[in-house]
Amino acid sequence: MMTPEQIKEKIKSIIQLPALPAVAMEVVELVDNPKTSASKLGKVISSDQALTAKVLKIANSPFYGFPKKISTIDFAIIVLGFDALKEIVISISLMSSLQKKSDRHFDARLFWDHSITTGVVARKLARDLGYRISGEVFVGGLLHDMGISVLHRYFTNEFQRAIDITRETDLTMLEAEESVLGVTHADVGGWLAERWNLPDHLIEAIACHHTPSKAEINPDLVALVHCADAMSQQIGSGPVEFDKGTEFDPSALERLRLSDPQILSGYVETYGEVLRADIEQVTALSGLAG
Ligand SMILES: [Fe+2]
Ligand SMILES: [Fe+2]
Repeated sequence: MMTPEQIKEKIKSIIQLPALPAVAMEVVELVDNPKTSASKLGKVISSDQALTAKVLKIANSPFYGFPKKISTIDFAIIVLGFDALKEIVISISLMSSLQKKSDRHFDARLFWDHSITTGVVARKLARDLGYRISGEVFVGGLLHDMGISVLHRYFTNEFQRAIDITRETDLTMLEAEESVLGVTHADVGGWLAERWNLPDHLIEAIACHHTPSKAEINPDLVALVHCADAMSQQIGSGPVEFDKGTEFDPSALERLRLSDPQILSGYVETYGEVLRADIEQVTALSGLAG
């Protein structure tokens, strides 16, 4: 059996491991740099025509709710802001880099449904609770389980064994992954995020989404993604097999001041209906529908 270190090395060295497209990498760096001008960012995005078309399509969708038509990237930057634009570019690039095909071990439709639901719920929760990190929180929610996609693709047998264990025993998916691989999908997702040079707080949100009390860089973001994950199990596509055993972590609830079970169930109840349209829109825009 491979040690966690060896697995990490294997994951980092797999040649076909989806690389973040160069333009997306550049956008992430530019947006994180306070000296970046809007025109510089516009130039970089505009250098990729397919990306430009997708960004404009999403910028004009009701998801962002801007009343006038946005027909240029420069205008999109002005009205949506750097953060929203980064959110759009990262989401588009990553979703096209990750697994989209189903097989008998992996229901891609359910995976994306769960990922998008978690992103949309995290964004809504952040806004409702008054956090100013709603852009990144969408990306964090969207990507939180990307380790699942990697495990399924590169450790197919081990992944299937872990799923089988969750079906046959009381073990949660994390426990099953630990017992088969010695690492979890949260670790693996964090390593991929590292390789992609995503910002540290996003790496942390992915790596700690099941263990929010371990967060150090941005515990609010991690708590939001964690709670959105657990909420989406109850709201959206129903419980997904690969997150069996996901429960609200008391420290995350406390951090977000959601410890009162009534407040929490109130959110869960209202979000289902309110967010259905947003979830469908993101699914359609991402080209993952069907
Ligand atoms: Fe997970
Ligand atoms: Fe999840």
